[in-house]
Amino acid sequence: MRIRFKKWARPELAASPFCMDNAFALAGTWRQQFAKPEQPFYVELGCGKGGWVSQAAVLHPENNYLALDIKSEMLAVAKRKTEQAFAEAGREPENIRLSILNIERISEVLKPEDGVDRIYINFCNPWPKEGHKKRRLTHPRQLRQYAAILRGELHFKTDDCDLFTESIEYFEQSGWEILTKSFDLHADEPADNIRTEHENMFTEMGKKIHFLIAKPPADAFGKPVPNLHAPDTVKLFHALEKQRMLGILTEEQFEQRKREILGEPEEVPHDEGMEVEK
Ligand SMILES: C[S@@+](CC[C@H](N)C(=O)[O-])C[C@H]1O[C@@H](n2cnc3c(N)ncnc32)[C@H](O)[C@@H]1O
Repeated sequence: MRIRFKKWARPELAASPFCMDNAFALAGTWRQQFAKPEQPFYVELGCGKGGWVSQAAVLHPENNYLALDIKSEMLAVAKRKTEQAFAEAGREPENIRLSILNIERISEVLKPEDGVDRIYINFCNPWPKEGHKKRRLTHPRQLRQYAAILRGELHFKTDDCDLFTESIEYFEQSGWEILTKSFDLHADEPADNIRTEHENMFTEMGKKIHFLIAKPPADAFGKPVPNLHAPDTVKLFHALEKQRMLGILTEEQFEQRKREILGEPEEVPHDEGMEVEK
């Protein structure tokens, strides 16, 4: 989703009581950021303009919501949308918090003690090129981080069939259990489904919406995950990169070494023996 630079975005976010400007400093204390810390804690990754989370938080005062996005311009629109939704409902935004974050760093910001009850991924970027797939929010590298902090389920919606079928494989390879799966959510749309901006847009274009709910492997909760951004890991990756450039490591050996460092499963070609439901 393209969005123009908004010079008001950062100052407005900084002045807002429900936008948290240093997610890293709040690691392990997220529940205390809400008026009712004991409520279920739901996190949306890549919230965009906040259409989904602003509606969810108004409709469900019994839950707390944290919405994260990498772009301040997006989050600033989400902030305005949240203010409007709560003003219309005549309530204060006590059960919603917004914060800027690159989700690739989520395990530095959300800890097992934050007790995340549910994760929502709505229409994340599909990153179709082979070399970019690691950036997908459903990539096994990411699933590993979520599994360490999530004590409930993950809900995933997308219009992108390739992303969806490959994500099913990512979940299965990573030991997650898929509890529900639909290739056409709107064929029998659940009464409690809240449509996002992208969901409305793709539906108007005649695209089908795919949806799944998955549960992480029970023994993954609380397990430490490698921090890709830690200085030692960055140094190690640079050294490997150099060995690859010098031809000391082949491309395959390089990828294998990286997977070993990250403790990631072997990559399986995605279209082998996979039946696609329509
Ligand atoms: C296609 S939009 C979907 C927005 C919204 N969830 C919806 O369904 O309408 C994807 C959003 O994810 C955000 N995003 C992409 N990569 C991200 C990352 N690594 N960390 C945080 N947000 C990310 C983008 O800025 C964008 O707002």
